[in-house]
Amino acid sequence: MKSQKKYAVSVRNLSYRYLKNQPEVLRNISINFPLHKITAIVGPNGSGKTTLLKHFNGLFMAQNGEVFVNGQIVNKKTRTTVQKQIGIVFQNPDEQIFYPKVYDDVAFGPRNMKLSIAEIQERVAQAGKLAQISHLMDRITFNLSFGEKKKVAIAGILAMQPEILVLDEPTIGIDPWSKGHFISLINSFSPEKTVIVITHDFEIMKSVDNIILLKNGEVEGEYIDFNSFYQEEFVS
Ligand SMILES: Nc1ncnc2c1ncn2[C@@H]1O[C@H](COP(=O)(O)OP(=O)(O)OP(=O)(O)O)[C@@H](O)[C@H]1O
Ligand SMILES: [Mg+2]
Repeated sequence: MKSQKKYAVSVRNLSYRYLKNQPEVLRNISINFPLHKITAIVGPNGSGKTTLLKHFNGLFMAQNGEVFVNGQIVNKKTRTTVQKQIGIVFQNPDEQIFYPKVYDDVAFGPRNMKLSIAEIQERVAQAGKLAQISHLMDRITFNLSFGEKKKVAIAGILAMQPEILVLDEPTIGIDPWSKGHFISLINSFSPEKTVIVITHDFEIMKSVDNIILLKNGEVEGEYIDFNSFYQEEFVS
């Protein structure tokens, strides 16, 4: 089997359906996500973006086709290793936040990595600063606002310092005062890390290296700049 090592994530002929008697929501998708670049996945509601990314860390297993992370196929055997290399911030923070205290939620990843207490504290503090939640560390997660929860979920993934960072709608619910910060933050990870961002936000799309357009579970286009995407989809 070909290893696809030069890509951070490589999707080969991936198809997926939720229910047996319903149509496929991913239809024969093949995409390569280059190392150390920022790639945006865009497309209408229901086009399959979130379903696609749930295959990247083995949360969903390919029904047809294959997904490779750092050249390694994602399957039940490799899933734990893959999950150390790729960090996914989900669209809905309630799917990601489990601990009652913010500090513990952000510390979950570093604790799992068996780091020292000092290293855990350092990572939590740093991730908290980057995600602008330092002031929330002692709060109860359940009564945070949606935007605050979104930032906590981002901090939790940043604290693991994954080499591949995947964000599903990172700016949804983020106020306009913080949004510029988060867009700069995403951009600051490249070229050191690979970033894959699902977004409806034109400002993010303008800042990335590549745009992949999904429609109806299929790859409809790939663009190297926002203008060509915008012209094709919204002008001509
Ligand atoms: N658990 C599920 N069971 C059945 N169908 C589902 C399930 N989850 C999602 N779907 C369907 O699969 C399709 C793709 O959904 P998905 O969440 O991947 O879209 P999306 O591109 O992320 O949309 P959005 O922009 O709204 O986040 C949609 O038609 C959705 O209704
Ligand atoms: Mg989605």
